[in-house]
Amino acid sequence: MDDISKLLDKYRGTDGGLIPLLQEAQDQKGYLSREMLEQIAEGLKLSLAKVVGVATFYSQFHLNPRGKNIIRVCSGTACHVRGGASIMAKLEEELGIKTGETTQDLEFTLESVACIGACGLAPVMSVNDEIHGKLTPEMIPEILAKYRRQEAAV
Ligand code: FES
Repeated sequence: MDDISKLLDKYRGTDGGLIPLLQEAQDQKGYLSREMLEQIAEGLKLSLAKVVGVATFYSQFHLNPRGKNIIRVCSGTACHVRGGASIMAKLEEELGIKTGETTQDLEFTLESVACIGACGLAPVMSVNDEIHGKLTPEMIPEILAKYRRQEAAV
């Protein structure tokens, strides 16, 4: 059972409380489970369809589990012309998932994003808050291994 009863108490009866409530609920485990959405709908006396509708409308909300490491590959123009697609292809191959998916062990989520403002380093990806630039497909396995090691060391 996801414990969001405190959040429900905090936001119950406040106008416009649904979105901040969803944000805080999502912070608890990185995504909004079906069970959480049902609890929120019941707690705020809203229909489940309404709560799901809001959660799916905003891209900040995730309805599926996310990886511990979020990889974002830039698909902006500068990165595209410098081989961004080959970086994404290598990541998909190494992780065995497609863009937008999460590995089964919940280690990595792979996403494509617009320019992340580091065009001089193209092609670029970020892993969590770290930027990796001037990438080649050959560099990808080592970068992934570094994050796997960090996980193992925790
Ligand atoms: S286009 Fe990739 S960082 Fe700007």
